[in-house]
Amino acid sequence: MCSPEHFAVAYAINPWMDVTTPVDAALAVKQWDRLRETLLGLGHDVHLLTPEAGLPDMVFAANGAFVVDGTVYGARFKHEQRAAEAAAHRAFYEERGWHFIAPNETNEGEGDFAYLPEAHGGLVLAGHGFRTELPAHAEAQEALGRPVVSLHLVDPRFYHLDVALASIDDGNIVYYPGAFSAASQRVLAQLFPDAIVADDVDALAFGLNLVSDGANVVLNSEASRLAGKLKAAGYTPVPVELTEVRKGGGSVKCCIAELRD
Ligand code: ARG
Repeated sequence: MCSPEHFAVAYAINPWMDVTTPVDAALAVKQWDRLRETLLGLGHDVHLLTPEAGLPDMVFAANGAFVVDGTVYGARFKHEQRAAEAAAHRAFYEERGWHFIAPNETNEGEGDFAYLPEAHGGLVLAGHGFRTELPAHAEAQEALGRPVVSLHLVDPRFYHLDVALASIDDGNIVYYPGAFSAASQRVLAQLFPDAIVADDVDALAFGLNLVSDGANVVLNSEASRLAGKLKAAGYTPVPVELTEVRKGGGSVKCCIAELRD
């Protein structure tokens, strides 16, 4: 995770960002701290990336890389405003001895990649359409040695895979079908017949931008119906408030890069 010390809506690169909306910087840090404490309270380790002035979106740590079984596939940001974040993530991994593979193709890390270790023997789901480009899916497959399933995102409000789909355990997902092309919806229904399906209200409340450890699902507090569905399916929803970073177009998952060693 990376503290939102320097967070601001300084530019608009997704439909949620409005540079005229005021951001409460102190509240942003407070809410982010609560998220960090929530993860610690659930028994998880949290490592911190040092935020840098001039990189207001660094709080969205999920975009900096994608890690599977100790191998790190680095990010290459679509927009110039975020390009310098990639080096900070790379340094984080290299200083700690992770096997880092630098990308040639445009991709925004876990923003557009999800890993399901127990689905069909270990599957990577990958989004394209807005940020990550299709050639990066093939590059990730070569880097990580896992089959990568390409999914086409078609609604600009869901510009990253992780705002439309999340793993809820090692083999299953929750997603909002309307974010995907008709063909990609069929692919998801075929691969995940038992998936939990979210509605547009929860999806637009960033409900799918969640993190699950297979039992506890940390999600945006505004997605109350999704919380109910998860509970009914046997999971424990853990709602958190993230009103400030949401103004940048992200929520829980965007703030967390998962270190899969
Ligand atoms: N303002 C950031 C951007 O548009 C938000 C990134 C959200 N991160 C995510 N994993 N969806 O790039």
